[in-house]
Amino acid sequence: MYKVAIVGYRVQGKLHHAPAFAKHPDCKIVAVCDVLEERAREGADTYRVPFYLDVDAMLDKEEIDIVAIPVGEKYRFDLVMKCLQRNKHVFTEKPLVAEAGQYRIVPGDVPKARAMIDEWRKHNVAFGICFGLHGGRNVRWAKQVIRSGEYGPLAVLQARCAIGSWNHIIDMFRFLGGEVAEVFAYADEGWRSKTAAVKFESGAVGTLMMSADLALQYQFKWIGRKGEVQIDDIGGTAWARSNRSYEYRYLNEQGSLASTTYFALFDDHIAEFVDCIKEGRPFDADGWAGLRHMEIDAAIGGSIMTGQPVKVERYLPEYGRTIFSE
Ligand SMILES: NC(=O)c1ccc[n+]([C@@H]2O[C@H](COP(=O)([O-])OP(=O)(O)OC[C@H]3O[C@@H](n4cnc5c(N)ncnc54)[C@H](O)[C@@H]3O)[C@@H](O)[C@H]2O)c1
Repeated sequence: MYKVAIVGYRVQGKLHHAPAFAKHPDCKIVAVCDVLEERAREGADTYRVPFYLDVDAMLDKEEIDIVAIPVGEKYRFDLVMKCLQRNKHVFTEKPLVAEAGQYRIVPGDVPKARAMIDEWRKHNVAFGICFGLHGGRNVRWAKQVIRSGEYGPLAVLQARCAIGSWNHIIDMFRFLGGEVAEVFAYADEGWRSKTAAVKFESGAVGTLMMSADLALQYQFKWIGRKGEVQIDDIGGTAWARSNRSYEYRYLNEQGSLASTTYFALFDDHIAEFVDCIKEGRPFDADGWAGLRHMEIDAAIGGSIMTGQPVKVERYLPEYGRTIFSE
């Protein structure tokens, strides 16, 4: 049984991290920590465990295997470093670092993300990121189809999203399409809308587009040499069409964002994180995925600011999984 502590008990902690860990048959919540007492108490009462206002006091006192850290990006770095240094498995939110907010990641944010990876590499623990789209059933199905190779190598990948999914679609873009070599991006005033042209290392190309005014959470169109695969929205559909066949799949009853489906994303993603620890398997949304997201997002920010194409500088480029790297 893994003993889990929740650090940060507001929206993500209360609604997604804590319930998902509590539901897992191999996990037990043993402590809740928040700097605000009423929040810490609320979590502690819900799970009938002690509460803490200070993470050091909690780590000193409790026996803990996994620390879930759903705090805002301003507080994430110190808490993640501290827990890694104490040899805890860590599950935290995305993005790893964002001094100016999660939708305005710039090259200056990357060194701190690399420092987290350096710390992680010193310890034999898992480091997972809450890129919840990996838990989507439509996404899982589409990944299997792409992995099968039946649709050939990638030619073009397109992705668009509402502002809230920007970090997620960059992570998915790399995961579904492969490592990104270079970007050229534009944004409007205030970066409420962004668009980037992307060149993959494989030679394939793609576009990423975000708008604060888009109602759809996200959509991917993966166009291979022998067919295409499309993923539509959270809890939505996925379909694949090859030169020979056409397959359209509703993977659940809801074609749109439904609360039960949204919650299931986190449950499935966190269950996979725990199962990977238990079975000694690599987790797709691990620290490397967190770092690669930062490097691509920062290159996009750099391109917006300079008006020039920017090469994506990958730290330790041989590390990090995509669906093509098995
Ligand atoms: N993965 C996703 O799909 C997804 C969805 C929504 C939000 N998020 C991200 O999750 C993060 C958390 O979101 P939230 O809405 O819960 O935000 P939040 O930052 O308001 O809540 C975090 C909680 O952590 C507490 N906290 C801060 N520093 C602490 C410390 N040192 N020790 C203990 N507790 C501390 C705060 O008091 C607060 O209660 C945000 O960065 C957000 O962007 C991710």
